[in-house]
Amino acid sequence: MILVTGSSGQIGTELVPYLREKYGKDSVISSDIMEPTGTQTGYIRLDVTDRDSLDRAIEKYGITDIFHLAGILSAKGEKDPDLAYRVNLNGTYNVLEAARRHSLDKVIIPSTIGVFGPETPKRNVPSITVLRPRTMYGVTKVAAELLGQYYYEKFRLDVRSLRYPGIISYMAEPTAGTTDYAVEIFYYAVRMKKYTCYLQKNRRLPMMYMPDALRALTDLYEADSNKISLRNGYNVQAYSFTPEELYGKIAERINGFQIEYKPDYRDGIAATWPESIDSSDAIKEWGFRYDYDLDRTVDDMIDHISEKLGVSRKHLV
Ligand SMILES: NC(=O)c1ccc[n+]([C@@H]2O[C@H](COP(=O)([O-])OP(=O)(O)OC[C@H]3O[C@@H](n4cnc5c(N)ncnc54)[C@H](O)[C@@H]3O)[C@@H](O)[C@H]2O)c1
Repeated sequence: MILVTGSSGQIGTELVPYLREKYGKDSVISSDIMEPTGTQTGYIRLDVTDRDSLDRAIEKYGITDIFHLAGILSAKGEKDPDLAYRVNLNGTYNVLEAARRHSLDKVIIPSTIGVFGPETPKRNVPSITVLRPRTMYGVTKVAAELLGQYYYEKFRLDVRSLRYPGIISYMAEPTAGTTDYAVEIFYYAVRMKKYTCYLQKNRRLPMMYMPDALRALTDLYEADSNKISLRNGYNVQAYSFTPEELYGKIAERINGFQIEYKPDYRDGIAATWPESIDSSDAIKEWGFRYDYDLDRTVDDMIDHISEKLGVSRKHLV
């Protein structure tokens, strides 16, 4: 039985049904401190900072594997660094300790490009590189990566991690990250054909579409343990673009779409992150691949968001 923590967030909302489809409808317990939207079965309220509740859930539901998604992302973490420390660091420590004590099979922990910092090379960054982040999110995620590696080497707990770039998706709207603009822009484009972007127009960042992000996570989960040489985190990205380039792609499809730029503190966070990362370790070791290039992502996002908002495609062109 798989436990997903942080299951009501942007990734969990889609990962839970994806895992149920793949491994069976009764194969997953979803958990969060926030109720899921819609009717999700098999949900429990679980705060990862509460070690006893984690132990009880593992015992009660016969948990064998954990996908640990609960976290406080970069932008929210800079507003409340204390909360980010408690959830990201203490929460991850609790998950690893509970997994060790109950001899669980695997723990999957998504990491992030937030682990990089201004001293990291800017382009095509390899998985093993300088990690000197300047956000509380980054600091706690580097520590979480190192803890994962430590638990693997010291206790042989099968911990696996990949570093997601910004994730683009249409089901749950992200609200806590620095790359959220790449989702938000579609809602504004479809709803009012106007968007004010909080990053500079040339701020290039690595990104990926949700279906590829979900498959990457389960490919890593299913890979033979002896193929996984990096226990702290594999870089993965599908593409990297600037807000102006994404705007151009959307404007080709939505007539009259306008953008203006008012960079805020999130642009300062993004400035410390690389423009692109090198996925070659993930490709070589466990077959990472992606299906959605930027054009296909933009087409799919506009289709789903116009349907969600009840806007006809005819109104857009
Ligand atoms: N979305 C991205 O672009 C992205 C990029 C890189 C890495 N990641 C990583 O993926 C994971 C999931 O990210 P997401 O985008 O779904 O984030 P999100 O902010 O949308 O969701 C996080 C979830 O964690 C829950 N949570 C917060 N505190 C909790 C606690 N104490 N106990 C239990 N749950 C708690 C929140 O209620 C929320 O539902 C995170 O570890 C994040 O670092 C995400």
